[in-house]
Amino acid sequence: MSEQASNPEDLAKTKVAIIGQGYVGLPVAMRAVEVGFNVVGFDLDVAKIEGLAAGKTHIDDISDDDVAAALASGRYKASTQPRDLAGFDIAVITVPTPLSDGVPDLRFIESSGNTIARFVRPGCTVILESTTYPGTTEDYFGPILEDASGLTPGVDFHLGFSPERIDPGNKTWNFQRTPKVVSGVDEASLKVVQGFYDLLVDQTVATKGTKEAELTKLLENTFRHVNIALVNELAINSRELGIDFWDVIDAAKTKPFGFMPFYPGPGVGGHCLPIDPTYLSWQFERELGTVSEFVKVANSINNGMPNHVVKRIQGGLNDRKKSVNGSRVLVVGVAYKKNSNDARETPATPLIEQLNKLGADVLVHDTWVDSYELDDVVTRVPDLTADILENADAVVIVTDHDDLDYSLITDSASYVLDTRRKISGPNVEHI
Ligand SMILES: NC(=O)c1ccc[n+]([C@@H]2O[C@H](COP(=O)([O-])OP(=O)(O)OC[C@H]3O[C@@H](n4cnc5c(N)ncnc54)[C@H](O)[C@@H]3O)[C@@H](O)[C@H]2O)c1
Repeated sequence: MSEQASNPEDLAKTKVAIIGQGYVGLPVAMRAVEVGFNVVGFDLDVAKIEGLAAGKTHIDDISDDDVAAALASGRYKASTQPRDLAGFDIAVITVPTPLSDGVPDLRFIESSGNTIARFVRPGCTVILESTTYPGTTEDYFGPILEDASGLTPGVDFHLGFSPERIDPGNKTWNFQRTPKVVSGVDEASLKVVQGFYDLLVDQTVATKGTKEAELTKLLENTFRHVNIALVNELAINSRELGIDFWDVIDAAKTKPFGFMPFYPGPGVGGHCLPIDPTYLSWQFERELGTVSEFVKVANSINNGMPNHVVKRIQGGLNDRKKSVNGSRVLVVGVAYKKNSNDARETPATPLIEQLNKLGADVLVHDTWVDSYELDDVVTRVPDLTADILENADAVVIVTDHDDLDYSLITDSASYVLDTRRKISGPNVEHI
């Protein structure tokens, strides 16, 4: 789309390629089809693409009906074939940006850049959405596209960055309702990038350049990471002082200005908080030779939470004249957040690994997560019954899914460590 078109015929002629059909890419693809674009959802994962082509979703926020409707429109194609990208007008990159050995791993951005570069044409637009350190779009991704296509970003084609704010499971702030930050490597790129997202979401917010947009995303996630670390530390120490820190948060959040509540928990997980702040600190170190003290401290506290939970279970069992060794510990929830099937980087994993190491017999209940990385070493409990709860020496609530029967847990379990403060009672402890 060289200039913004918004009538249905022009939209249907505009080919949008979404590279990556995961938690981020699939909702973007579905929304682009919904507003009228002609969309190719490209992914290397054959199982995902075969599922989508057969009308099956793999993420909670998109239903089978959504996928079926997109296919029925005749304007959505799920593909693993690079040739289906040919002739794209707009390409949106939503591939993973993990850490490898504690440093940013941009190999997915690199490979997707190389895949689309051969289809880059004068006047087309490429938008990076993957979370990454400031400078990636201009200094890393643009040159990949330029080297392989012989065309210059900002001169021959448009290039921009628009960070994703998708919050899986959030019914209020979905993709369309959440304001979207947009940027371009030049004015013309910004205009096209903003024009594209103006059609997809209710509000777009332009930044001065791509680095500002990249840092916006890292600021948002680092802000959350640091504040969660703050309340985790305060919760641990308050308990030692005999203070109910949850009560403190309830009181503090009545302040109508200058305070925002964050809650302690078993640690952070998912594809954002355990990873994104480290992209920022890595860049500080590389470019400036300085460290981000905040990120360092937040990583240390939040990464230490699973270990703290294990210590609390040890203490709770000890109070009941039991040891972890030989005890039956029921872990309720392994998804990193509630009402989600996402167990990537979940704090449940180090927690269960430590319990196992200490000799516990670990049972896991989570109906949201179909396959879990520790399925080989835990016993899955499909239904939470009074019998199972009564027979557990300790129950630890890691994920507070809304569909759990909390009264049953409160009434049946002899000892619950509730890391989310969903329940209270004589046998219930909070983090
Ligand atoms: N999940 C979230 O809640 C969330 C929120 C905001 C931002 N993000 C960021 O968005 C990006 C994507 O995250 P996600 O959660 O969607 O990841 P994901 O793993 O769910 O999806 C990424 C998809 O990209 C595919 N892929 C990898 N390399 C590819 C290539 N070269 N060509 C085509 N497909 C390729 C993978 O097979 C996968 O299906 C990351 O940078 C992440 O940090 C994620």
